[in-house]
Amino acid sequence: MPLLAVRPQCRQSTGSPAPWGCCAEGEEHGSGAGDGVQADAAGAERMSPIVAGVLQAVQLTMADPSSVPVPSAAIGVGTWAWGNRFLWGYDPARDAELEATFRRALDLGLTFFDSADSYGTGRWTGRSELLLGRFCSALGPDQGQRVQVATKLAPFPWRLGRRGYRRAFEASRRRLNGHLQRVQLHWSTARYAPWQEGPLLDGLADLVLAGEVAELGVSNMGPRRLRQVVHHLAGRGVRLSSLQVQLSLLSPGPIAPGGVAAVCRELGVELIAYSPLALGLLARSGGESRPMPQGPRAALFRRLEPQLTPLLQRLAVIAAAHRAPLAAVALNWCRAHGAMPIVGLRSVAQAETAAEALRWQLSPEDRRDLDAIALALPRRMPANPFQSA
Ligand SMILES: NC(=O)c1ccc[n+]([C@@H]2O[C@H](COP(=O)([O-])OP(=O)(O)OC[C@H]3O[C@@H](n4cnc5c(N)ncnc54)[C@H](OP(=O)(O)O)[C@@H]3O)[C@@H](O)[C@H]2O)c1
Repeated sequence: MPLLAVRPQCRQSTGSPAPWGCCAEGEEHGSGAGDGVQADAAGAERMSPIVAGVLQAVQLTMADPSSVPVPSAAIGVGTWAWGNRFLWGYDPARDAELEATFRRALDLGLTFFDSADSYGTGRWTGRSELLLGRFCSALGPDQGQRVQVATKLAPFPWRLGRRGYRRAFEASRRRLNGHLQRVQLHWSTARYAPWQEGPLLDGLADLVLAGEVAELGVSNMGPRRLRQVVHHLAGRGVRLSSLQVQLSLLSPGPIAPGGVAAVCRELGVELIAYSPLALGLLARSGGESRPMPQGPRAALFRRLEPQLTPLLQRLAVIAAAHRAPLAAVALNWCRAHGAMPIVGLRSVAQAETAAEALRWQLSPEDRRDLDAIALALPRRMPANPFQSA
């Protein structure tokens, strides 16, 4: 297993693994996987040639960041809009439509649902989890067993220490009526409070080891921090299931050389693509004079849309070849990079469009064409300010 081969990122002079936060952001403390391979190569010279050769081959294969991605089989559903008035204009009068969307998505094979304890604005804080819990509880046992719910806990500054997430976890689990398979650190604090996130993650690992939740994930982490976290958790006997980052044709950083997608492949961590439609911008077909969305998204769309003609034209050609909607191509680009897109859905029609993407995959040629266009775009989606290196 790749996890076993991950070398300590950072060693103190005693040679023991460094504690959390030893590497400040922007500071290179030696061995990433590449360094690990060099150190082991030197040691391998003292072994029998056969053992040394096998060891080196295994390590080089696992450290090879250019390994070809295996397309993701799944598409998940994001629920940020369920309770958010500010960006998404949430209206509780439409909850029945959200439940219909949830059920339709499930029927069509979209079984992974992502939420967060910070979703919902003002008096609707926690609404996304509450609705998800309610919808899950209303399912029959067969359907209920198919749903996988992941939530994210925010590392607010007052959530400190190994037990800092305890009450938040219990509150989320209550809102979700116990339907919770994966708990995720919502964002990395490495940039501004590197000491905070280690104990919080240790607390989440405690929950996994105690059998209170099955899986652990993180979000908004870059390659360096991811390696540290995977290594530390492996030392505790806990596997990191997933990393969630912003990934779309308008936010292609994770698939660029040195990006986190290759590191996920190397370490066996599932990559989850959030905002895969760039908040819906990538689902708007070019040339069509569709009305702008209400609220702050309109300003973003106006800033990014003028440069999109070559991308939208290429998307339209691929979409036509597969008799698929534009949104399905954008989702399948994420899947082609080995990432499971979690698309924000709030209507049955949107669920059906997303499920359309499951019946086909992007060819490697189309993926490479889209990569080239995406990586050359002068303007991208705003990066998450908490994303660590
Ligand atoms: N970890 C993090 O920090 C983080 C950050 C952001 C998001 N997320 C997660 O990722 C999920 C998805 O990201 P997102 O909601 O930001 O954006 P997204 O998935 O890129 O876009 C969602 C929006 O696209 C539009 N859309 C969806 N399907 C469509 C279709 N078939 N045709 C046309 N338009 C369609 C809808 O907008 P309209 O209804 O207005 O048409 C929808 O609300 C979130 O819900 C959340 O769970 C995580």
